[in-house]
Amino acid sequence: MSGSGFSAVKVSEHVWWVGAIDWALRDFHGYSTQRGSTYNAYLVMGDYPILVDTVKAQFRDEMLARVASVVNPADVKVVVSHHAEMDHSGSLPQVIDIIKPDKVYASQMGVKNLHDQFHGLGEVTAVKDSETLKLAGLTFTFLETRMLHWPDSMISYLHEDELVFSQDGFGMHLATPRLFADENDPAVMLYEGKKYYANILLPYSPLVLKLLDRIRLLGISIRTIAPDHGPVWRKDLGTLLGWYARWAEQKPENRAVLAHDSMWQSTAMMARSMADGLREGGTDVAVIPMSCMSRSDVMTELLCAGAFLVGSPTLNNGMFPTVADVLTYAKGLKPRNLIGAAFGSHGWSGEACAQIETALREMGVEIALPAMRLKFVPDAAALDQCREFGRAVAAKLQERVGM
Ligand code: FEO
Repeated sequence: MSGSGFSAVKVSEHVWWVGAIDWALRDFHGYSTQRGSTYNAYLVMGDYPILVDTVKAQFRDEMLARVASVVNPADVKVVVSHHAEMDHSGSLPQVIDIIKPDKVYASQMGVKNLHDQFHGLGEVTAVKDSETLKLAGLTFTFLETRMLHWPDSMISYLHEDELVFSQDGFGMHLATPRLFADENDPAVMLYEGKKYYANILLPYSPLVLKLLDRIRLLGISIRTIAPDHGPVWRKDLGTLLGWYARWAEQKPENRAVLAHDSMWQSTAMMARSMADGLREGGTDVAVIPMSCMSRSDVMTELLCAGAFLVGSPTLNNGMFPTVADVLTYAKGLKPRNLIGAAFGSHGWSGEACAQIETALREMGVEIALPAMRLKFVPDAAALDQCREFGRAVAAKLQERVGM
């Protein structure tokens, strides 16, 4: 069909992408999305059209226009909602009003969560874990993926196309006009995939490992993975699955993350000298000034690291607010297998380092060395101590990772 203003993109024999590209998104509930995102919805063309997931409310008309480039939206008879979060369900109530499908399917928890979000939504039919349904002459098997990353989350497998609708899993926040992963810069794909995992899926890593095992045991052939954010994977699926297996294991690597903020550059100077010491000691380091980088950058770097050093001046008897922010955020995302340490310059009371150590311990981080605390501006001798501190952390980390 023509004249809809937006077009669908063919993904596989029966599947079309009918989502939306959000070029302007820079914050996704606290996660910085410097490259925007996509909300992927899919149209499955069997004996009748099926809509798989929807988009954020503001993109509803764009999605319906993409559907209209293939088929009259009013002909859609079934809608499947894999996940109730608003970026995929925000337009669902209006879409139901407009197209009036015969059936809307969700997981059992999805039915509950959709009704808790959209009061008066109407009937939603629950599919069970492992249930196989024949829809439009095609075969879908649904797998609940509770807490990956919401209680309602599920994925489905379209047997005829050997395609997995993986919902948030295997996704990334990346606005791109190139729908397929193999059309995009591999370095960008790796970075954004890693960032997404670290900021959304990390706390559920044990469940990710179980899901990967479950998929392996099913013995199904998978040709395409179609997530709800970012590009669709039709090649190199082993690379993607390998990334997830590695990230979910969270094995410590010989790399340190040095997140800090500073009032008058003293703590920043300490951070730079420590980074030199880490490098001299043979450990790679990511230095993250919280004044200009985000909490989600810290998590991205922590995903493939083994040490977390956190520096802060003392402000009003406490940590600097940006440092408290990143520690609160990191605690919720439950990174594992890290050693860590605190550092910082202070003028008089100097409580920040002890507070950082407490926060690191609460995260399960093993304190590698007592905090490095300095008063006011570090001189050359103090900066040498910081370098030594960095070298000592490098040695401890390398012992831990078995180097
Ligand atoms: Fe993309 Fe959990 O929503």
